[in-house]
Amino acid sequence: MAGFNTERVLSVHHWTDNLFSFRTTRDSGFRFKNGHFIMIGLEVEGRPLMRAYSIASPNYEDTLEFFSIKVPDGPLTSRLQNIREGDQIIISRKPTGTLVLDHLLPGRNLYLLSTGTGLAPFISIIQDPETYEQYDKVILTHGCRHVRELAYQDLINQHLPSHEYFGEQVQDKLIYYPTVTREPFHNQGRLTDLMTSGKLFEDIGLPKPSLEHDRFMLCGSPSMLKDTCAILDDWGFMEARHGDQGHYVIERAFVEK
Ligand code: A2P
Repeated sequence: MAGFNTERVLSVHHWTDNLFSFRTTRDSGFRFKNGHFIMIGLEVEGRPLMRAYSIASPNYEDTLEFFSIKVPDGPLTSRLQNIREGDQIIISRKPTGTLVLDHLLPGRNLYLLSTGTGLAPFISIIQDPETYEQYDKVILTHGCRHVRELAYQDLINQHLPSHEYFGEQVQDKLIYYPTVTREPFHNQGRLTDLMTSGKLFEDIGLPKPSLEHDRFMLCGSPSMLKDTCAILDDWGFMEARHGDQGHYVIERAFVEK
């Protein structure tokens, strides 16, 4: 199909009844920036059925990884959740997106604020050595309803800190802050509430964000983005827009699938 590459599914991992990740082959000519998203899909009745997905893998790997919800009556995910190793996936050749390091003004601390599958682009960004070159601390937050939805914990807690090339920087700089809203957990509550109360910053031992030092990337549901932007705007932070760098960037977690 014109404008698309056809890739092969290499592995599928089901985290829960409604969350899964999968890995595909990657065309050798396909280039993207960590944090980008891309249209991917399946051929259904001879036509491409495509949705936007953030790429969860870093751009130096020779495979591509995606993190998805399963919507029982979703046109794409009701089918995509059944993919198996060896199946074909269609991937557009034009990655794009705003969650890239270049869009932010230089700073000291980088907050990656996510809920649900909004975690995906940040899984790529925390595997980018450039992230650790540019920031002293990288704070990865993930807000979920349930503990079982906190995907990628092994990568974050085990594999990255022992990474051959940048494991030491990860140990020194990456702060992981998962929080759960609908059952007991050591961190509880919505990220927005944890920001306004200041508990998030107390818990991680950093000062309340300042315009000078702190930068944010946001990825979550439309309501999470709206509420988080309102807090940042209230604190005086400016969104990067129209090619100008800013204090924060946002991207919707693409959930209507
Ligand atoms: P809650 O359980 O209080 O709704 P969802 O699956 O609905 O996208 O939610 C994922 C996580 O994001 C949940 O923990 C949910 O909390 C939280 N959440 C939902 N809406 C917002 C919002 N407007 N601001 C911050 N967190 C939110």
